[in-house]
Amino acid sequence: MAALIILAAAAAAIGGAGCAGSSGTEAAPAAAPSWPRYTAERELLRPEKHEEWTFVGASLGLSYSEGAESSHPLFHNVLVQPEAFRAYRSTGKFPVGTTFVLAVHEAREAVTIQRRGKVEGDLVALEAAVKDPERFPDGWAYFDFGPRGQATSARAEPSEDCHRCHLEHGADDNVFVQFYPILRRAREAASGQIETSQGAGAAALPVTGDR
Ligand code: HEC
Repeated sequence: MAALIILAAAAAAIGGAGCAGSSGTEAAPAAAPSWPRYTAERELLRPEKHEEWTFVGASLGLSYSEGAESSHPLFHNVLVQPEAFRAYRSTGKFPVGTTFVLAVHEAREAVTIQRRGKVEGDLVALEAAVKDPERFPDGWAYFDFGPRGQATSARAEPSEDCHRCHLEHGADDNVFVQFYPILRRAREAASGQIETSQGAGAAALPVTGDR
C-alpha cells in the first residue's frame, strides 16, 4: 500500500511534464502516465491507453503452446510505451517500468472487396510483460487479461508458464526483439551501427537475435 501511494505521488509530480510531450532525451523516465499501475492486491491494472503506444511488430499464426489449433491463425500485435521505446533506442536498455502489450486478434476472411488474405478481427486476448526487478524477483512479470482481454486487472503468471521461455529465447532482456523490426533497428541505433534518422537500409536489416 505504501508503495502504491509513493508511486501515485511520483506520477502526479511529473504528470504535467509527461503530458506536455517532452522530448524524452534525458535519462529513462521514473514514472509517466502510461507506466504500470497496480491494485492493492498487487494485480496489474489493464493498460487502457495501449492503443496509443509504439507499435513494434506483428506476427500471424505464431504458436508456442503444443497442440495449439493452427487452422485459425491469430494476429499478434506488440506495443510498448513511447517513453520506453525512446529510452531503448538511445540506450539499448529497457527502463524499469517498461510494459509490453501483446494484443491478440482473430484473423477474419471474406470481408467486402477482398479476394484473398485476412484482416484483423476482434480482440481475443490481451497479455502484458512488465519490467520491475524490485517488485518481481524474476525481473519481468507476465500477465493475461482473461477472455477477450477484458479483465480490469491481472495477477502475475507463475514463472514457469511465461518467464522461462522469454528468458531463454528472447533476444534481448527477455524480449523477443528478434521478431520486431522496429526494435531491431532501435537496438542497432543504440549501439551506433546505424544512423538514427530514417534512411536507406531498413530493408536490408540483418537479424541479429542470436544471443
Ligand atoms: C514457449 C515460449 C513462450 C511462452 C511460454 C510465453 N511466451 Fe510470450 N512470447 C513468445 C514469443 C515467441 C513472442 C514473440 C511475439 C509473438 O508472440 O507474436 C512472445 C511475446 C510476448 C509479449 C510481447 C513482448 C515480448 O516480451 O516480446 C508478451 C507481452 C508476452 N509474450 C506475454 C506472455 C505471457 C503473459 C505468457 C504466459 C501466459 C507468455 N508470454 C508465455 C514466447 C513465449
